[in-house]
Amino acid sequence: MANIVSCQPTRRNYLRVVGILFLGITISYGENFAWASGETAGNRPQLYLVGVGPGDPDLMTLRAIRAIQQADLVFASPGIAKKCAEYLTGKEVVEGYWRLFPYYGQKREEVPEEEREEYDRLAAQRQKFIQMVRQAVAAGKVVALLDNGDPLIYGPWAWTLEEFEDLNPVVIPGLSAFNAAHAALRKSPTNATRTKSVILTANDWPGKTDTIPELAKLGASMAIFTMRAEFEDFIGKLRQTLPDDTPVAIVEYAGYKDRERVITGNLGDIVQRVSGKDLAFEYLIYVGEFLTFRHRKSAE
Ligand SMILES: C[S@@+](CC[C@H](N)C(=O)[O-])C[C@H]1O[C@@H](n2cnc3c(N)ncnc32)[C@H](O)[C@@H]1O
Repeated sequence: MANIVSCQPTRRNYLRVVGILFLGITISYGENFAWASGETAGNRPQLYLVGVGPGDPDLMTLRAIRAIQQADLVFASPGIAKKCAEYLTGKEVVEGYWRLFPYYGQKREEVPEEEREEYDRLAAQRQKFIQMVRQAVAAGKVVALLDNGDPLIYGPWAWTLEEFEDLNPVVIPGLSAFNAAHAALRKSPTNATRTKSVILTANDWPGKTDTIPELAKLGASMAIFTMRAEFEDFIGKLRQTLPDDTPVAIVEYAGYKDRERVITGNLGDIVQRVSGKDLAFEYLIYVGEFLTFRHRKSAE
């Protein structure tokens, strides 16, 4: 029997109309809203860039797990593949295509001659990777690129969003190491006497004008992603601007319950406090008064 909604202006029908209107508005808003992230009801994403969080697997989001579960082909570093192993059973996992961003978008003649061999090597590897992704998508497969932390904070896959723009890739945000690191410190970088701002930065590189000594002049809290650069160099650059009593903290292995390590000090003594300890690849440097800031100024 057909379900006919009578047009009599009863209270029940009024509620039905309001309900239908509300549903319509919700669906159209939902579609627009979802469209912004590339995911819509009628559009099954075929390419995901997934942030799997820092440290232990329980810092992965449910959305990241769902995206990985949907994938047929997964690109990941060996460490990430190990961390996500539980969700990778039965999937094709490719491990060798990690750091393909250098020189992306640059012409060969723009690169110094002594770097052209490396340019060619990376260009060839990138082409292979691009082909693998496109072939998989053409065959109706879902591809996921996995990255630690948040994929768009110093992530090696950011270039793929441009390369595969036509595939409307979906980015799954992740908790960054930065979030896990100040959780380990139990300090808020947005709470300090003279600043409510945090600067995320990394080593200075050619062409970068917002260098560490320049950024430090702003007086904001700083979180420095280190990426294998020399620890003492960072401290030297900070000392060009900031006084030696500026608080500093190092957080290693943020988000790993059993490995997290915090070293605190100030710009004048931190090098000596760290000396003799091997710093891991996974460590962040925090700088700023927030590290010693207390809401209660005196012991009451
Ligand atoms: C290529 S960046 C990747 C950052 C990542 N996308 C994120 O959002 O955390 C690598 C740098 O991030 C920092 N890092 C990554 N994981 C970390 C962790 N678990 N603990 C502390 N620092 C970490 C280190 O400074 C490392 O050199």
